[in-house]
Amino acid sequence: MTTLFVTGGAGFIGSALIRLIVAESDWHIVNIDCLTYAGNLESLAAVSDDARYHFSRTDIGDRAALDALFAYYHPAGVIHLAAESHVDRSIHGPGDFIRTNVTGTYTLLEATRAYWSSLADGARSAFRFHHVSTDEVFGSLGDTGLFTETTAYQPNSPYSASKAASDHLVRAWHHTYGLPVVTTNCSNNYGPCHFPEKLIPLMIHNALAGKALPIYGKGDNVRDWLYVDDHARALRTVFERGSVGETYCVGGHNEKTNLEVVDLLCALLDELRPRTDGQSYATQKTYVADRPGHDKRYAIDASKIQRELGWVPRESFETGLRKTVQWYLDNPDWVAHVVSGTYQQWTEKNYGDRA
Ligand code: NAD
Ligand code: DAU
Repeated sequence: MTTLFVTGGAGFIGSALIRLIVAESDWHIVNIDCLTYAGNLESLAAVSDDARYHFSRTDIGDRAALDALFAYYHPAGVIHLAAESHVDRSIHGPGDFIRTNVTGTYTLLEATRAYWSSLADGARSAFRFHHVSTDEVFGSLGDTGLFTETTAYQPNSPYSASKAASDHLVRAWHHTYGLPVVTTNCSNNYGPCHFPEKLIPLMIHNALAGKALPIYGKGDNVRDWLYVDDHARALRTVFERGSVGETYCVGGHNEKTNLEVVDLLCALLDELRPRTDGQSYATQKTYVADRPGHDKRYAIDASKIQRELGWVPRESFETGLRKTVQWYLDNPDWVAHVVSGTYQQWTEKNYGDRA
């Protein structure tokens, strides 16, 4: 069995993972994604013609469709990324987060369990269900300390509560039914193909569009940034070599306040694409009302995945951020299609359901 299911593969991290796996392994990939506003098949243009890449436009809440995919492809494992992922959207409308992140994960677990139970002994023990989660399930840190695999869950937003629920379901499916699971809890990612609703791509897009750069509160909240390709390598490492039933924290050792991030972005843009009026992009910074329940600080202790599996990030924040800004400057069409909404028409025009 050489086929993997990746859910949410048209999203930011899923597309980076699929590009990596197709380039660096022999796996066949089935990308299971229902293409919400966040799903963009343009991010997979580099692999879309590869014979080892397959796409199925399927909702993880559709049990019959999942059963049909398992029966047709006989995968050796599932890497589950499909989710509603944006905290601000979860505050304005939590329903989709419960539907996909909680109920959708439950449906996917049940479809996986039915298929896995039908496998012969060797394939059953080799099978893996890898749940991709977030450090936000641990809540908020004060000025000191780091999240580890043993930190108590204390989710604060509808998004993080829905992800915490899904983590608990995955854990229970292992302890109760023996499903061979691994879970990763990662810090904030950044890099190419990031939807411009999240801090870094929003700031790049707004800066270039001459718009305000909205900083929540005082800009002193801290996030621990990881370049998306480093996360993708961590996911592959844990999927292939992680211990069943274990969780792994993944992070970049790059703690920055939001203000530091915005200032670094402005300095990079001033260097790489100076404003025609000679002013700095920093003049576009604007302080706006804070996010309700805004977590103060996230920071990951990634020593377990380093010690047990040998994973370390390759990018520093400075090298990764420069690459990211350059990617957005080099790919204005990707951003323009997202902003205009035409990426969804492009999707329909260029891809049918291949399952
Ligand atoms: P994203 O929003 O960019 O992509 C999510 C993808 O899931 C989209 O392609 C969307 O179409 C798909 N999807 C949503 N609902 C679906 C459904 N019901 N059925 C099938 N597909 C569906 O998200 P991302 O930033 O790439 O995050 C991927 C995963 O990684 C999520 O589970 C998220 O919680 C987790 N995570 C993200 C970060 C981060 O910084 N972005 C950090 C840690 C963990
Ligand atoms: O920690 C991992 C999480 O990181 C993932 O699980 C989430 O899916 C992902 O979206 C991300 O959540 P955050 O809420 O940390 O990311 P976001 O980019 O939305 O915000 C980063 C910080 O920037 C946060 O402190 C809020 C702030 N912010 C964000 C936006 C969009 C602003 O100040 N202004 C903004 O316009």
